[in-house]
Amino acid sequence: MSDFYRGRRLRRSVGLRELVRETELRPQDLVQPYFVVEHDDPGAQLPIPSMPGQFQLGLQALQERVAKARDHGLRAVILFGIPDHKDEVGSQAYAAEGIIQQAVRRLKKAFPELIVITDLCLCEYTSHGHCGVIRNEYVQNDPTLELLARTGVAQAEAGADMLAPSDMMDGRVGAIRAALDESGYPELPILSYAVKYASAFYGPFRDAAQSTPAFGDRKTYQMDSANLREGSREARADIAEGADMLMVKPALPYLDVLSRLRQECDLPLAAYHVSGEYSLIKAAGEKGWIDEQQVVLESLTGIKRAGADIILTYFTEMVLKEL
Ligand code: PBG
Repeated sequence: MSDFYRGRRLRRSVGLRELVRETELRPQDLVQPYFVVEHDDPGAQLPIPSMPGQFQLGLQALQERVAKARDHGLRAVILFGIPDHKDEVGSQAYAAEGIIQQAVRRLKKAFPELIVITDLCLCEYTSHGHCGVIRNEYVQNDPTLELLARTGVAQAEAGADMLAPSDMMDGRVGAIRAALDESGYPELPILSYAVKYASAFYGPFRDAAQSTPAFGDRKTYQMDSANLREGSREARADIAEGADMLMVKPALPYLDVLSRLRQECDLPLAAYHVSGEYSLIKAAGEKGWIDEQQVVLESLTGIKRAGADIILTYFTEMVLKEL
């Protein structure tokens, strides 16, 4: 008799391995992000060069793409808007006929069961590309809260199922919650991008959403990537302000943060597998250096294992076809 652990006993067959598998990726865990562009041609489908397989979609093209993905089991989407007109205060974010409001109304009408989450931020709508109001080249926290709250109410009126503030202003979850409650939406949930790092992994997204800041960077509002404990403070603040779910973003470089949050809080957790994480895998896959499909499944399973209940990933459509 051997006196060492024989871990291989439970790895001997597919059946045994499946029997003891601890983590499973399920279709209902996945959220597909889409970029909706305000375009003269609603059928427009404009490729995003740094994100092969992802597009800026006109309203009609969005609906068609969702219809196809629904056939493969798509349950939830998060929408990002690219308006045809940007200004200093991002007014298209909260206009009743803003592109996201149009997209939400259209999708909810065509697919009442689809969960439509809206990213709630100003950077795609401001001429300077920052997530708030600028004074003296600095993003002003409190004046921005009012605009975020207006955006939340506009998205609620359009029929969104969940709002996801991603701006990283202090106090925004509370401000949005109060505005929703006052406007008759006390039951609309908020998924807060609570722990969002200032990350170079957002590069391809900023090409896609045309939201690269015209000056400076986002480091005065997004978190320093070196910090773990600060993530807990951000999470506690958002819980106190009324967040229903919390997000960690990006995903793979921050699995320690996710794992710690899973221990510390009992809200459902989301992780955003962001644009740069997508593009890295795509690029290596195109070169034939990795098995793209396997790397995607391994990455997403790792994110779940670390503690995510749901994952926002550009690979959702692809994975749904496989599951
Ligand atoms: C908007 C926002 C960003 C992302 C999600 N919401 C960009 C940013 O903060 O610069 C990034 C998503 C991705 O990279 O896939 N604030």
